[in-house]
Amino acid sequence: MPDAIGGYFELELRQGCSLYPQALAFNSARSALKALLGNIGTRRLHLPHYVCHAVPDAAHAVGVDVARYAIDLQLELEHLPTLQPGELLLYVNYFGLKDRYISDVLAPHYRERLVVDNSQGLFSTPLPGIKTLYSPRKFVGVPDGGWLANAPPGDWQLPQSQSMTHFAALLGRLEGAPEQHYAAFQKVETELDRAPAAAMSNSTRRLLDSLDYRSISARRMANLGVLGKLLGARNLLHILPDTPTAALCYPLLLGTPEQAQAIRQRLLAERIFIPCYWQEVIGEPRSPNVERHLASCLLPLPIDQRYDATHMERLADRVSTFLATT
Ligand SMILES: Cc1ncc(COP(=O)(O)O)c(C=O)c1O
Repeated sequence: MPDAIGGYFELELRQGCSLYPQALAFNSARSALKALLGNIGTRRLHLPHYVCHAVPDAAHAVGVDVARYAIDLQLELEHLPTLQPGELLLYVNYFGLKDRYISDVLAPHYRERLVVDNSQGLFSTPLPGIKTLYSPRKFVGVPDGGWLANAPPGDWQLPQSQSMTHFAALLGRLEGAPEQHYAAFQKVETELDRAPAAAMSNSTRRLLDSLDYRSISARRMANLGVLGKLLGARNLLHILPDTPTAALCYPLLLGTPEQAQAIRQRLLAERIFIPCYWQEVIGEPRSPNVERHLASCLLPLPIDQRYDATHMERLADRVSTFLATT
């Protein structure tokens, strides 16, 4: 078909460029993982206990066996498992804060057997030759999408997905209160969980290419720094790197699940929304103590590009006040 000329306009977006132009683009990170595992004939995938259900579900969906490993309070592996032929190890770059550990320890040790899950580390660039997953919608306002960097050679052709019906929550939040459109957001998440692996839609790709990643990353770095300074002394997790990092969130680890739940509820009453990473880890009887503690006591505080130092100061002030009275 020849290209159309004229007629009505599409949604107008800036012509930018891809953050990771060499990466393969999918409808989600879990689809990228499924395609990767299928393409290289993986037999078993070593996963942390501390991970969202989408990751083991993706492995099971393509008939790959899952083994679990434990992490410590640095969010690093307690022991490095020896991998058998046909096995890979996936490590989550937690909150985008574990770049050094990946580059200094895991990548040299496991090389082509390592899959770095940068779903929480959009701005962590892929290390040469290391298979790396991304889930950009955890960082920016797009409805879906995933990338796989350093894919091995193979047949990666997939039908293209369509995102037209996924925009209601994003547009709704532009015009109204987030509470009004949360159900629409959840509906898309459920649909993505059921969707077959597919290539990224054109609308998601165009949106992603239009973003100003430099300013997004700078704002996240600055906001992380502010919360680190204001809340560091109260935080039981000590993993902030020395260098400015464009992280997913500021992970605040508290002492007990009751305290974390109370603070989450009091923040919610002030319309400060704090997710839980990950409910399914709390519900899983085989979760080790450290992972259960992380899942039930960690508050991932927002530091994203919508906010500046004033917002961060308000957030830290509310958290400190509630901690002093809970
Ligand atoms: C660490 C991690 N990896 C992968 C995924 C899957 O990403 P996606 O939702 O893009 O499939 C998630 C969450 O959904 C996640 O938290």
